[in-house]
Amino acid sequence: MSSIKHFLQFKDFTREEFDYLFARTRWIKDQFKNYKQYWPLTDRTLVMIFEKASTRTRLSFEAGMQQLGGSAIYLNTRDSQLGRGEPVEDAAQVISRMSDIVMIRTFEQEIIERFAANSRVPVINGLTNEYHPCQIMADIFTYIEHRGPIQGKTVAWIGDSNNVCNTWLQAAEVLDFNVHVSTPPGYEVEAERAGLYGTANFEQFSDPMEAAKGADIVTTDVWTSMGFEAENEERLKDFADWQVDGDMMRIAKSDAIFLHCLPAHRGEEVTAEVIDGPQSAVWDEAENRLHTQKALMEYLLLGRVNS
Ligand code: CP
Ligand code: NVA
Repeated sequence: MSSIKHFLQFKDFTREEFDYLFARTRWIKDQFKNYKQYWPLTDRTLVMIFEKASTRTRLSFEAGMQQLGGSAIYLNTRDSQLGRGEPVEDAAQVISRMSDIVMIRTFEQEIIERFAANSRVPVINGLTNEYHPCQIMADIFTYIEHRGPIQGKTVAWIGDSNNVCNTWLQAAEVLDFNVHVSTPPGYEVEAERAGLYGTANFEQFSDPMEAAKGADIVTTDVWTSMGFEAENEERLKDFADWQVDGDMMRIAKSDAIFLHCLPAHRGEEVTAEVIDGPQSAVWDEAENRLHTQKALMEYLLLGRVNS
C-alpha cells in the first residue's frame, strides 16, 4: 500500500509536480469555462469524510468529481460509524475497497496518516488541525493567475499560526518564496509542528505592520479555527491588533493582493474595506479550489495526462 500517492501535506509533492498541477489546472479550468465536456474519471467514486463543517471544500470536491465524470459520496461523523468509535484503520480498509479516492477533513493530522496507511486508494487532506494543503494550492494558483510566478515573492501572514499558516510555510519551502508571519505573543509558529525542514523561508515579526511591509500577498484567517471554539473569548482579546485593514494593505506592495481562505469575519481578522476592496482576490481564490482539486484528483488517479 505504501506506493500509493497521497496528498496529506503540501510537501508530499515536489516543485516540479506543482508546476505540472498548475499547468494542468489552467487547462482544466479553460475547458470548464468553455463548456467543454471532460470526463476522464467516469465510473470513479470519491468518498468525502467530514468530521468538521465545510462549504467550499465539500462543494468543490463534489462538483469537481461530477464535472470530471465521476461521483462523490458524503460521509460525516454523526451519520456514520466513524462517530461511534470504529477504528480509523478499519474504516480505511472498508472505505478504500468501495471507492477510488478519499478526501478527509478531520482533527489531528495523525488520524489522516493512519487512514492513509491502511488505504488501498489515494487520500487527500481536506483540512486537519495542522494543515490545509488544498487551500494553499488554490491560493498559489490564484496568485499566479493574477501576478505570475510566486518564486521569490513575499507573503505576509497576519494572525493565528494555524493550519493554513503552517501550509503557507511548507509551500514556501517547496516553491521557494518567503513568508513573514506576525502573531500575538503566545501564538507563534512552531517549526516542528508546521512540519518545516528549516527556517530559511520564514521570519516572525511581533509587529503586524512590519510583516506586511513590501509584501506581495497579505493574507489572514479566522482567529479561532474549528476545534478551538473553547478559546474563542480569549482569542478575541488576544488578536484584536492583528486585523488586516486599509493601512496594512497600503504598507504592502502597491500591487499586493489580499487572500483569505474563507469563511471570513469582517471586523475581526479583516475589515470590510479590504476583503470587499479592489486588492481582494478572495472570490477567485474560492473558485480556484474547484479547478486545482480537479487537477489534483486527475493526477492522483491517472498520473500525468497530456492534452
Ligand atoms: N476554505 C475552506 O476550506 O472553506 P470550507 O470550510 O467552507 O470548506
Ligand atoms: N483555520 C480554519 C480554516 C477554515 C477553512 C479552521 O481550521 O477552522
